[in-house]
Amino acid sequence: MKTVEEFLPDSTRHTRIGFNFLLPEMESKSQQNIEKYGVDISTIREAQARIKSFIHRTPVLTSESLDNISGRKLFFKCECFQKGGAFKFRGACNAIFSLSDNEAAKGVTTHSSGNHAAALALAAKTRGVPAYVVIPKTAPTCKVENVIRYGGQIIWSEDSLQSREMTAAKVLEDTGAVLVHPYNDARIISGQGTISLELLEQAPHLDAIVVPISGGGLISGVALAAKSINPSLRVLAAEPSGANDAALSKAAGKIITLPETKTVADGLRAHLGNLTWSIVRDFVDDVIVVHDTEIIEAMKLCYEILKVAVEPSGAIGLAAVLSQHFQKCQAWRDCNRIGIILSGGNVDLGVLWHSFNR
Ligand SMILES: Cc1ncc(COP(=O)(O)O)c(C=O)c1O
Repeated sequence: MKTVEEFLPDSTRHTRIGFNFLLPEMESKSQQNIEKYGVDISTIREAQARIKSFIHRTPVLTSESLDNISGRKLFFKCECFQKGGAFKFRGACNAIFSLSDNEAAKGVTTHSSGNHAAALALAAKTRGVPAYVVIPKTAPTCKVENVIRYGGQIIWSEDSLQSREMTAAKVLEDTGAVLVHPYNDARIISGQGTISLELLEQAPHLDAIVVPISGGGLISGVALAAKSINPSLRVLAAEPSGANDAALSKAAGKIITLPETKTVADGLRAHLGNLTWSIVRDFVDDVIVVHDTEIIEAMKLCYEILKVAVEPSGAIGLAAVLSQHFQKCQAWRDCNRIGIILSGGNVDLGVLWHSFNR
């Protein structure tokens, strides 16, 4: 396996980039990033040191068949094998283990319909503190079951963001717990960024990384880390057409929210926050929008060829790479080695069966 140093530009290859040691020009860039975005490569490396013993270093899989179908060399970072079944455990662990003992003692809370909720419950259990999770009544059953499995205390809300936020505010008042936002939080973004540190060690010399986008916590961490290590690496977001607010936001140069969203990818219905927007605006090269039929087809390929259980939100990166938009786009012609983040695997089998038979 190659190390991070080996894919540094030649001019810097002799110098170690480590936890406490950055080149002077990189150090000043890093400082600028911290001031501007609240996150930089050093907060991501700190997160890695903090969470390393609690998380799985997930494998990177390759498949000649999928390389042939896509016409590229693909590297699948299997975060569906992460604890809790999704990358979310990285950010949740970093947030919870960043708290002082006094803060942690009162527990943590969040309002989330899915993977963040389960991840927070699991991370809280790992630290031995309570997690109060506000979940809308419409959340997928398997994700609710995960929260219960990990010992989270569920407080039900209506589906609307307003109802979720009001219920969470009441929980905060009653318990004194710390609110851990699913994505618009520097600790969460730093935790998710640890994926890039691993991926670029496991698959050096990537030309691009394709990442699902919703609230933008995942791609913000991945992009900041990846571009700090290799500025020429392209970072592309994959988004469903029925929840394409990130593509619209990039085009408009400001955060756009949609009155409603409709997609099979239930983890990709949130919109960007102020923190994630500034990183997405500055570090994400493009947003590839795909239809639900393409997501389901990609999911099928993951099951049939990779033999990996991926949820729709997790399969969207492959859908993006196989899409006409990507395949025909001149700008991505030279992206031959592509990292794809299979971000989660929590899928209701009933829903899966229904999707495949649609
Ligand atoms: C499986 C999966 N992939 C991707 C995302 C998107 O993450 P973010 O909201 O950080 O953009 C989510 C969010 O819940 C998710 O559950």
